[in-house]
Amino acid sequence: MTDRSPFETDMLTLTRYVMEKGRQAKGTGELTQLLNSMLTAIKAISSAVRKAGLANLYGIAGSVNMTGDEVKKLDVLSNSLVINMLQSSYSTCVLVSEENKEAVITAKEKRVRPRWTAVPRVVSRWCYWDERGKYVVCFDPLDGSSNIDCLASIGTIFAIYRKTTEDEPSEKDALQPGRNIVAAGYALYGSATLVALSTGQGVDLFMLDPALGEFVLVEKDIKIKKKGKIFSLNEGYAKYFDAATTEYVQKKKFPEDGSAPYGARYVGSMVADVHRTLVYGGIFMYPANQKSPKGKLRLLYECNPVAYIIEQAGGIATTGTQPVLDVKPESIHQRVPLILGSPEDVQEYLACVQRNQAGRS
Ligand code: AMP
Ligand code: F6P
Ligand code: MN
Repeated sequence: MTDRSPFETDMLTLTRYVMEKGRQAKGTGELTQLLNSMLTAIKAISSAVRKAGLANLYGIAGSVNMTGDEVKKLDVLSNSLVINMLQSSYSTCVLVSEENKEAVITAKEKRVRPRWTAVPRVVSRWCYWDERGKYVVCFDPLDGSSNIDCLASIGTIFAIYRKTTEDEPSEKDALQPGRNIVAAGYALYGSATLVALSTGQGVDLFMLDPALGEFVLVEKDIKIKKKGKIFSLNEGYAKYFDAATTEYVQKKKFPEDGSAPYGARYVGSMVADVHRTLVYGGIFMYPANQKSPKGKLRLLYECNPVAYIIEQAGGIATTGTQPVLDVKPESIHQRVPLILGSPEDVQEYLACVQRNQAGRS
């Protein structure tokens, strides 16, 4: 007899999924611990996002609430949550956050409170833990900051690397190309909270069940459409576009082959625009323009993680001149142009780039 209970008794939660993958990989458990700590931070950020108005979390950081406590703006709070959860996972050595000018280095020795011994009122000596592990994490704790106060979708983005040298940990450890990513993903705080995660074998989607406080698998090995029907960029910058972008956008609005024009969508939160592109297909672009000659989005914690997800789903992510994941970073907050999405759509954009380069030479 089949189990007709409406209540699922064997659901595949993200915690369980990460543990299973860790077991299959026959690892030490360090990456599993790191991923689960990241997911705890994401749950806490989701909870803060959902009750931001009630908890006075909107607005400017540094203001004082009714009880005199300092109110932390959502992005400051999210940053502290991720840093605290990752450092206490004993699996990280270098953290790069959009919110911190310099890389955050995990303490080699953390002095922890003395513990009571079995003998009453006798305190043992200070304990020292080595909190460091082998992973480097680059993250944007709360992406889409201009959308926080108007309640549009926002997200958290992360990419995880192995430390590759024996040197003392430093920001240099984070200057690795995206090709070295061990695991990456994003959380989208939209009409529901979703996590897209890849550890190098495709992309899986998990939705937060608020009643359980757990992410549940909703789509395994999602693949992007070969071609979509939506283009997504900030067209307000048309005055500053280069020739290739101008030509491409014109082709989407006035197709010459008799096909229907593409729909236009632009949330202005990269995670929301990228996730829509993953699910519906099409193209998302933040190209270089005259005002932002390197684009706006940051390579380490915005472009690389989403490029990894899109490639793992069968799409393309390019700067216009090379795959995003092949860029060798020079500094931790460096920007690059980002064009990603369905392979045929991105190829069409790249053909415009080629034509315009040939036209100039
Ligand atoms: P670890 O010993 O936990 O640092 O893991 C060693 C390697 O095994 C990682 O760098 C991954 O390539 C792989 N691995 C470990 N745990 C997991 C996991 N939970 N999911 C996917 N891959 C994993
Ligand atoms: O972090 C940068 C960001 O907020 C992205 O989420 C988003 O894609 C972009 O800025 C929007 O920038 P603009 O307002 O210039 O279109
Ligand atoms: Mn951002």
